Amino acid sequence: MSLLQTSWTETELLADEPNLEPLIVGDHRCHGGFDESGQYRSPRTRFRNPAIAAWQAQHSADFNTSLLDVPLDTWPPTSPNVAQSKFLLSEGVRAPVIVQLTRIGTVEGFGAAMRMWNVPDRQRFFVESIAGTTIEHLDRGLFEAQARDEAGWEDEYGHRDMWWAARDVAFENPVVEDMTELMLFRLGVTTAPGAPVPDAAAIRTQQHQVQVFAGIDLDAELMIQRMIGLLLIEISAAHLFAWAEELLSDSNLVAGNGEAARIVSYIRQDEAPHVEYLRTALTEMRDRTFVGEHGNIPGAEVIGTLWERGIAESTGTRRDESLALALREVEAGLIDHPRRVEILENYKALGVASPSMS
Ligand SMILES: [Fe+2]
Ligand SMILES: [Fe+2]
Repeated sequence: MSLLQTSWTETELLADEPNLEPLIVGDHRCHGGFDESGQYRSPRTRFRNPAIAAWQAQHSADFNTSLLDVPLDTWPPTSPNVAQSKFLLSEGVRAPVIVQLTRIGTVEGFGAAMRMWNVPDRQRFFVESIAGTTIEHLDRGLFEAQARDEAGWEDEYGHRDMWWAARDVAFENPVVEDMTELMLFRLGVTTAPGAPVPDAAAIRTQQHQVQVFAGIDLDAELMIQRMIGLLLIEISAAHLFAWAEELLSDSNLVAGNGEAARIVSYIRQDEAPHVEYLRTALTEMRDRTFVGEHGNIPGAEVIGTLWERGIAESTGTRRDESLALALREVEAGLIDHPRRVEILENYKALGVASPSMS
């Protein structure tokens, strides 16, 4: 009998640490806050962090396996990289960096959709019990907590607005374009920027096309695919955080005396529980057995296959697309610049070699 507490209520998993000094940016309250020692504490982690640690410990005790992991060097650094971005700013070319920060915030805001991801009664998909696991708590606070962290909740700013606030501090309220339509397209939701979101029937057809395991409930597989995609975004985002923090702390190039970089460091801290609960839930699935329509399937086969697909997608096609996009944005930012050719040449020399940039 374990002494670990592995069962939590939704209220507990959404609870903040008590008595935090609020984090205010400009005149707006953000989520999270500071404890008595001045340490930043992420929102909704009073019980969420100990809960995730308990599920991890329980899983290790029950299955004696290690957690799913993927090294950060699977992904190359961001493009533009820090040197390229600093070079552009030193030349007064600000648009590509401002666009990048706007884009990150926009994608964070899409996190609101994940409160819809849950598939009810998840026990029916597994041979073994899921009592006292991360899987059991996905709809008991975990998806909801992350949705609130990413998109904000009630009057509190979440990551979307915190990235935009960091941008506005660093670049003194620049004029920005809304990136929603472009990012919906780039994430594969729409067929072209500004095109309507497909209707329910079209979405269902699309979903059947991406199904890998015909014997497993489609909605369950889709939930797992989404969780894998999100976990890979969360892990690869570490490069973006490093890029943003280094760039935005350079007081010679951006305004705010390091405040923008501090905001980003708080967001980075908030991402830790997202990575941890997602990898724990996927590990719990990997080490169990899926109930299939035509017979049971080992979890290692299901999660292993979907995981490899997810990695291939995130490091392959999407990477090339984002490199090409980065270069187009720099070119657009330079369009009226008298030293356009020279700056572009120097910019390319500071980057990593890639087919899209040759
Ligand atoms: Fe986030
Ligand atoms: Fe996140």
